[in-house]
This record gives sequence, C-alpha cells and structure tokens, in this order.
Amino acid sequence: MRIILASNNKNKLREFREILGDDGFEIISQSEAGLDLDVEETGTTFAENAFLKADAACRASGEIAISDDSGLEVDALGGEPGVYSARYGGGSLTDHEKCLLVLDKLKDHEDRSARFVSAISCVFPNGDVVRAEGECRGVIADAPRGDNGFGYDPIFYVEEYGRTMGELTADEKNSISHRGKALLNFEEELKKYLARGDK
Ligand code: IMP
Repeated sequence: MRIILASNNKNKLREFREILGDDGFEIISQSEAGLDLDVEETGTTFAENAFLKADAACRASGEIAISDDSGLEVDALGGEPGVYSARYGGGSLTDHEKCLLVLDKLKDHEDRSARFVSAISCVFPNGDVVRAEGECRGVIADAPRGDNGFGYDPIFYVEEYGRTMGELTADEKNSISHRGKALLNFEEELKKYLARGDK
C-alpha cells in the first residue's frame, strides 16, 4: 500500500520508512509524489496540524496521505515551544540557535522536565482518518551534546540511556522516541482499520 508522507523532511521520511516499511507500506515523500505543498500550520494542537497537512496532500493527490506534527514541550515554559517548535524565536533561527534559546529561557528554572510529542494523522481519499499519538519524556540538558538526529535532539536528555537524543543512534532513538511510539500506535490503528474492511 502506497502512502504519501506530507513532508520533505529527510529525517522524518527515514523514521517512517524504518518503522512502517517492514509491514509492506511504501512511504513516499510529497516531492516524490510530485506535490509541492506548503500548508500553513494554523492549528492549536499537534493533532490539528497533522490533520491539516495530511488532508491537503490527500486532496491534492487523490491518494492516502500521512503526516506527523511534532514538537518539544518544556514544562517550566508552560509547554513552549509546543506547536511553534519549528518556528521558535521567529522562524529565522537555526536548530542550534533554537536549542540555545530554550537553554537561555530555562537558565533560572530548576524544573527542566520536558517531553517530545508526535501526533500522526492519515487521511484516506474517502474521508476516513486514522490518528495516533506518542510522547517521550526527558529533561533539558545544560548544554547541547551530540550530532545525531535533528531539531532539539542535542538538548533533550534521556535518562534511560544517560545521553541526549543527539547522542543516540537512529535505532536507539526510534525505540523510545515520541515519533517511534506514535508510529507503533499508528501501525496498530491502521491494521485495525484495514481489518474492518468497511472502506
Ligand atoms: P513539524 O515538522 O512541524 O512537525 O515541526 C517539528 C519541529 O519540532 C521540528 O522542526 C523540530 O524543531 C522539533 N522536533 C520534532 N521532532 C523532533 C525530534 O525527534 N527531535 C528533535 N526535534 C524535534
């Protein structure tokens, strides 16, 4: 079954393929599908934004489309950067600068707990939607460490491994990450949906 991932983010594409590829789902990026979409993320939740992106790709292609909207929520910052994770600090900052901004905002806070959240939405041409979510709890480190992954990975310390996500291998990250968990939940929901056979 071919599913269009409503994103051109190479890291996300790799993670989706690593988890769903084993089940015979062929995940292709929106550019591979010939789509040039830039959907405004106007939702106030990760789930709403995931739906907006998948729905636009499904409508434009007439094919099944899937999307993930994800981000970092820092408890002491009232859930910031949240749905603004990608645009934190105004939209012109590099990933490294966004990490430094979070560290700066947290410098007078003792509570450094945080979570990564991922919401997945898969939209079918008949209008059906299959959704799933996943989270990964951690602590914001004192300084960025590690070159793996992307985004806020270098400042997200995972107690289970005693390392930041930027220091984890792709397999280690997939086994505990918000997107890894959301994808596993999604895989189950998708199988249940397909087994119902009422499409
Ligand atoms: P999205 O592409 O709209 O889902 O934006 C997600 C943003 O949240 C990314 O640009 C990153 O800044 C951050 N983010 C989401 N998932 C991860 C992750 O696995 N590691 C690090 N940062 C992430």
